[in-house]
Amino acid sequence: MVDVKKKYDPREVMLEVHGLRVTFKSTGKEAVRGIDFFMKNGQRVGLVGESGSGKTVTAMAISGLIERYNVDIEGEILFNGKNLRSCSREEMRRIQGRGIGVVFQEPMTSLNPLMKIGPQIEETLILHTKKNKEERRALVLEAMEKVGLPEPEITYDKYPHQLSGGQRQRAMIASAFVVVPQLLICDEPTTALDVRVQAQILKLLRSLSEEYGVGILLISHDLRVIRQLCDRVDVMYKGEIVEAGLTEKVFNDPQHEYTKQLISAIPSREKVRSAEENEDRDEA
Ligand SMILES: Nc1ncnc2c1ncn2[C@@H]1O[C@H](COP(=O)(O)OP(=O)(O)O)[C@@H](O)[C@H]1O
Ligand SMILES: [Mg+2]
Repeated sequence: MVDVKKKYDPREVMLEVHGLRVTFKSTGKEAVRGIDFFMKNGQRVGLVGESGSGKTVTAMAISGLIERYNVDIEGEILFNGKNLRSCSREEMRRIQGRGIGVVFQEPMTSLNPLMKIGPQIEETLILHTKKNKEERRALVLEAMEKVGLPEPEITYDKYPHQLSGGQRQRAMIASAFVVVPQLLICDEPTTALDVRVQAQILKLLRSLSEEYGVGILLISHDLRVIRQLCDRVDVMYKGEIVEAGLTEKVFNDPQHEYTKQLISAIPSREKVRSAEENEDRDEA
């Protein structure tokens, strides 16, 4: 990974979202309807909600990718106190990558099937650092090792289809993490994976976040996934945040009707198991 001089100060707020509203002009659909939330450095925050509730649109607004669509945006997104909405393209490009990294499931940002794994991870370094070719190769191999890809030297020259689903997701994480972003936004990073691999990926995200002080905004429709990684959660419903708080508190004592529904949809056997997993985690 790229060397970070100092860890991000955990007392400082890194991201503030005020009254964010996103409307698609084509349909008039108000996908995000005036939401507020914040994150301090190094925090792991979840955004949970059913499909269509506006999670991805929120993530794309924060990472500066929503402008590709024909949308009206209102509100403020402050990153390190700087309003992203009034940044120039050049400034935004600088923030993307080392400031805000993304791991999306959408094909737009997922792996290119025609390009070998190593060079794809290297791309982030080409875009966002001034490292030379030799340094880049070393950093890519280190990142591949860190995320648990087998035999980095060999995997470097493989194509995405030659990897398993879990390995592909690790490669995606490596390509965001190789520059050590201040904030990593992960949009449904484990949705396509089976439960065991899902847990491994979440564990990986946790250890990277702890080691480097990277903040993670984890987006999922599944509160159980959020619970494995995040201290705090915001619950989104039809474009609004209807409940927010410590994950355990929200899980054990939900206030909003919709949150209660989300939790009652989880089979009770799993509720017990995930509570046990949580205890294991606290002991580790
Ligand atoms: N490109 C688009 N054009 C028009 N409407 C969209 C587009 N993308 C998303 N939407 C609408 O915005 C709402 C929120 O979508 P999204 O953020 O993708 O939900 P989630 O990620 O929570 O499943 C949905 O009602 C969806 O139909
Ligand atoms: Mg989504």
